[in-house]
Amino acid sequence: MTKVGMVGWRGMVGSVLMQRMQEENDFALIEPYFFSTSAVGAAGPKIAGRETPALLDANSIDALAAMDVIITCQGGDYTHAVFPKLRESGWKGYWIDAASALRMRDDAVIVLDPVNRPVIEQALARGVRNYIGGNCTVSLMLMAVGALYKADLVEWMTAMTYQAASGAGAANMRELLVQMGMLERAVAGELADPAAAILDIDRKVASVQRSADFPTQQFGVPLAGSLIPYIDKPLDNGQSREEWKGQAETNKILGRETHPVPVDGICVRVGAMRCHSQALTIKLKRDVPLAEIEAMIRADNPWVRVVPNTREDSIRHLTPVAVTGTLQVAVGRLRKLNMGPTYLGAFTVGDQLLWGAAEPLRRMLRILLE
Ligand code: HSE
Repeated sequence: MTKVGMVGWRGMVGSVLMQRMQEENDFALIEPYFFSTSAVGAAGPKIAGRETPALLDANSIDALAAMDVIITCQGGDYTHAVFPKLRESGWKGYWIDAASALRMRDDAVIVLDPVNRPVIEQALARGVRNYIGGNCTVSLMLMAVGALYKADLVEWMTAMTYQAASGAGAANMRELLVQMGMLERAVAGELADPAAAILDIDRKVASVQRSADFPTQQFGVPLAGSLIPYIDKPLDNGQSREEWKGQAETNKILGRETHPVPVDGICVRVGAMRCHSQALTIKLKRDVPLAEIEAMIRADNPWVRVVPNTREDSIRHLTPVAVTGTLQVAVGRLRKLNMGPTYLGAFTVGDQLLWGAAEPLRRMLRILLE
């Protein structure tokens, strides 16, 4: 049986991955070994009532090199520290990674098999051994409108994003909730009084948001009742790194680095928990009727859900609250824009921890096991 080493399985993405692997019975097909950076030798987790070996040392090249496949959600620092040494040791196994560290390397493929299964197959045939999960925003966008890229209909695209707290990490999700609680508590008395003036309430909320003791250790600034129009580090061209990934990763996933589709936009953090939303403007290469576009998107993969462009459907089914915790990627508000019949508007919502992070990794493992 294939020996699979799991690293970073207790973190947020790792926990979602573990849950999905158990739901899909993946562990029945492999010999799992669990690694740790902090509790080496402790009992491994029980999987479907089955004991697993004691936790192995995630920093031991020898222990890692005994695996056929390693799946890591431990983060980029870990990948940078361990991966080069492991490869230098001569290890020829498959490295499946949620972190971005190796994503753009020539010897790595970004995995999103409902979109780029042919790219993955070709890489396997070439002997590529590094399979890396994509940026969540990019993966969710392609799960939603990948059909249009596959049909080579996209001349260019903008993605204006509304990214959830989870994309920044578990501690950020907690901070968002603490901020929300503080705001409500600050004006609870006034809210209970129907005669209280809303502008007084608003003033008090703003003063709490701006106060020095408002908790902002994680985000650096208030997010509850606000937004943050910058995600990740600055690049020297005015883009944020998250914005740069839009074009770089989309084209790498599609295997069209040599003739890239221009993709750009502004990435914004909003107070959603774990669903990233995106407003897309897609410049089509030719005028395709809307009904045809909807049919293509609907037929592309089993997880995409086309939401009719009505007010009621949009507010009920095209929101983080409707989509969270599910594998469905909703896409709606599909319509031709005033700019002309080749300009398509769309809005999409997907769970950033599922298709945005964990799901492509476990599906890559399944491909290796086929
Ligand atoms: N970089 C993303 C975000 C999450 O900050 O929302 C991971 O792809």
